[in-house]
Amino acid sequence: MTLLEGRAISKSFGGVQALIDVDFSVSAGSIVGLIGPNGAGKTTLFNAVAGAFKPTSGKVLFNGQEITGLPASTICRMGVARTFQVTRPFAAMTCLENVMVAAINRRPEEPRPAIERRAREQLGFVGISELAAVEARHLNVIQKKRLELARALATEPTLLLLDEVMGGLNTQEINQAVAFIRRLRDERGLTVLWIEHVMGAVMQAAEWIIVLDQGRVLMTGAPQEVVNDERVIQAYLGD
Ligand SMILES: Nc1ncnc2c1ncn2[C@@H]1O[C@H](COP(=O)(O)OP(=O)(O)O)[C@@H](O)[C@H]1O
Ligand SMILES: [Mg+2]
Repeated sequence: MTLLEGRAISKSFGGVQALIDVDFSVSAGSIVGLIGPNGAGKTTLFNAVAGAFKPTSGKVLFNGQEITGLPASTICRMGVARTFQVTRPFAAMTCLENVMVAAINRRPEEPRPAIERRAREQLGFVGISELAAVEARHLNVIQKKRLELARALATEPTLLLLDEVMGGLNTQEINQAVAFIRRLRDERGLTVLWIEHVMGAVMQAAEWIIVLDQGRVLMTGAPQEVVNDERVIQAYLGD
């Protein structure tokens, strides 16, 4: 079953055509890698899906329902969560408070103690329980990425959009993160659409890859097909 579908999505910023007629689909329960050189349009595609802005033309369907141009908060409540390439926690709030804000957005009616319980559970799941009372501005880059993920998970998504979560991690940390993304799918049943520059990581965990280049879909396929494709190799060498 298709969970997310894009039909002929285009987006221009003034003269810049960031996306041109992009068609793609993501099956429920899959881990899909979205790759491509810098400036290919990957983050723009996330923005169009998550409602940060409306595409210039084209349609986004989630669970078979059109969501094109809906407010980001509505799309989030429908079950789409994202992380940002550059993390943006509320710097002066604690980690627990940051995650509670996300949980409240999803369940505005729920009593505070239950919200706090949910938030602590997410902090535990991403492995930063001990930072609950620490203000977000004191976290290092890796801790901020974990907090970002806890905030996304606190909105109880069925679809998780990850934007370059591996940047700045060493090999061991990358392997842990790959295992973690697999757990999200295997244990929580999440569907994951994942932008990643660290090619080894995305090739390990994704079962399907979408390659964007200069705003267009260059190819889609299984990881092995993609890494050996001449067009993909060229696109990266030109980067
Ligand atoms: N808000 C914006 N205003 C103007 N141009 C933008 C904006 N966001 C992205 N772009 C342009 O769109 C293109 C695709 O950017 P982006 O989606 O961030 O690429 P990627 O995430 O693949 O590196 C780039 O040329 C970028 O400069
Ligand atoms: Mg990007």
